[in-house]
Amino acid sequence: MSILDFFYNDVAVDLGTANTLIIQNGSIVVDEPSIIALDRTTNKMIAVGRKAMQMHEKTHDNIKTIRPLKDGVIADFHAAEHMIRGMIKMIHTAKWGVLTPLAHRMIICIPSGITDVEKRAVRDSAEHTGAKEVYMISEPIAAAIGIGIDIEAPVGSMIVDIGGGTTEIAVIALSGIVCDQSIRVAGDVFSKDILDYMRRKHNLLIGERTAEKIKIGVGAVLEELDAPPDDFEVRGRDLMTGIPKVVRVNYKEIASALEKSVLKIEEAILKALEISPPELSADIYENGIYLTGGGALLRGLDKRLAQRTQLPVHIAEDPLQAVARGTGVALKNLHSYKSVLMT
Ligand SMILES: Nc1ncnc2c1ncn2[C@@H]1O[C@H](COP(=O)(O)OP(=O)(O)OP(=O)(O)O)[C@@H](O)[C@H]1O
Ligand SMILES: [Mg+2]
Repeated sequence: MSILDFFYNDVAVDLGTANTLIIQNGSIVVDEPSIIALDRTTNKMIAVGRKAMQMHEKTHDNIKTIRPLKDGVIADFHAAEHMIRGMIKMIHTAKWGVLTPLAHRMIICIPSGITDVEKRAVRDSAEHTGAKEVYMISEPIAAAIGIGIDIEAPVGSMIVDIGGGTTEIAVIALSGIVCDQSIRVAGDVFSKDILDYMRRKHNLLIGERTAEKIKIGVGAVLEELDAPPDDFEVRGRDLMTGIPKVVRVNYKEIASALEKSVLKIEEAILKALEISPPELSADIYENGIYLTGGGALLRGLDKRLAQRTQLPVHIAEDPLQAVARGTGVALKNLHSYKSVLMT
């Protein structure tokens, strides 16, 4: 690292509903859950990211935790600014101790279905955290760059990004989004499905975080898996007695709990295929569908989508980081990616 890095302090930010990643000089310097903890009376930030997540659903009257994004967009501006600022500070304290240079340029990715008002809000928040030049890039394009697809080519590629708040399906060709579908069914809804299922079927009350652990532990979308995971021990509160108890669940149960939501994602993918121009359909037939986002890790999803669409389905190498990496590549090559950046 040279002293110049101090002055050229550009950052690429994947501000996600579930996770925020920051890339600098091509490497991931921040990868934290999108959450902050505030003091209820003074509104001062107590913790950000992982530390705040540890407090989530365990707070008392003086502390509240906030997830500033909902359904892929900023729902609480004040909290979002605090969060971005807190995360940018993490890089600087790691690198420079107390010295905190301003971020000069920032690329931040946004959902493809975002409104102009929401876009302006993202830009304002980024500027308030010290960025002098702010560029935005749409998430499916960033995901495609992150996977290594040549987005400028006159060839269509279909990206399905299943994040925490939204599932975005986009067909990309010639550096643009030709058609897209965005639905608010993704990781948060899957967790809610699991939470409801545990209450309904096992009379067990669990929190958001436990639901997420179940999803990661035994989350599946097929009732028959080639490599089934071990059953998962769930701790929660018995709905009848009020006493803590333990229940074991298997992946088949979770597959049934997620069925309704997975069907909605399938429908959206079929819809996107249906509205694609025929010449691009031919490309997609050849190249298949690329899955990114944490939801791509659901067991059996690639197989299930391949059966449903009769197309090849590829899971990105590191689905949770594809969008951030793509945003980082765009930051490094601002000029060559000018056509896909928005200001
Ligand atoms: N192994 C796994 N199996 C299933 N789901 C997972 C797994 N790992 C992470 N997830 C889920 O993926 C989601 C986070 O994915 P990701 O980081 O791509 O979302 P995001 O970018 O924050 O959200 P969005 O793009 O919608 O704003 C969370 O809901 C998380 O629970
Ligand atoms: Mg995302």
